[in-house]
Amino acid sequence: MIRLTINGQERAVDVPEDMPLLWVVRDELGMTGTKFGCGVGQCGACTVHVDGAPVRACQTPVGTLAAGSRVTTIEGISGKAAEAVQAAWRKLDVVQCGYCQSGQIMSAIALVAGNRNPSDADIDAAMDGNVCRCATYQRIRAAIKDAAQTMRA
Ligand code: FES
Ligand code: FES
Repeated sequence: MIRLTINGQERAVDVPEDMPLLWVVRDELGMTGTKFGCGVGQCGACTVHVDGAPVRACQTPVGTLAAGSRVTTIEGISGKAAEAVQAAWRKLDVVQCGYCQSGQIMSAIALVAGNRNPSDADIDAAMDGNVCRCATYQRIRAAIKDAAQTMRA
């Protein structure tokens, strides 16, 4: 039995230690907001936070999570950075098909939580691993700048 804290709740899952966190989240816990894209760490669709930092859940065996680490999925985001990013996404109508967007949003929240005035280069670096097949990149960049402005206000 593996115990983890996810979206503020203690959960126990009866899975092998090498099971990717993505399968635990989606299949064991039924939280399907985190998406399966490539499965090999290349697309960012599966991005969740571990202790506030974005990680690729498809490349994170659940048994490697340190005791006491806090996992947050798109279902559990909260706080100022999350609200600023969600508001900016709505305001600028970022989403096209939506498939990549929970991963994009998780990366964007981690960025603006730690950097309230990200440059284009900062945004490129933070969002580099999140691929959007609909090519919403310009709107994502604008929304991150909008969210960062909200964080500075
Ligand atoms: S599904 Fe994890 S990076 Fe693509
Ligand atoms: S909005 Fe369609 S893949 Fe990004």
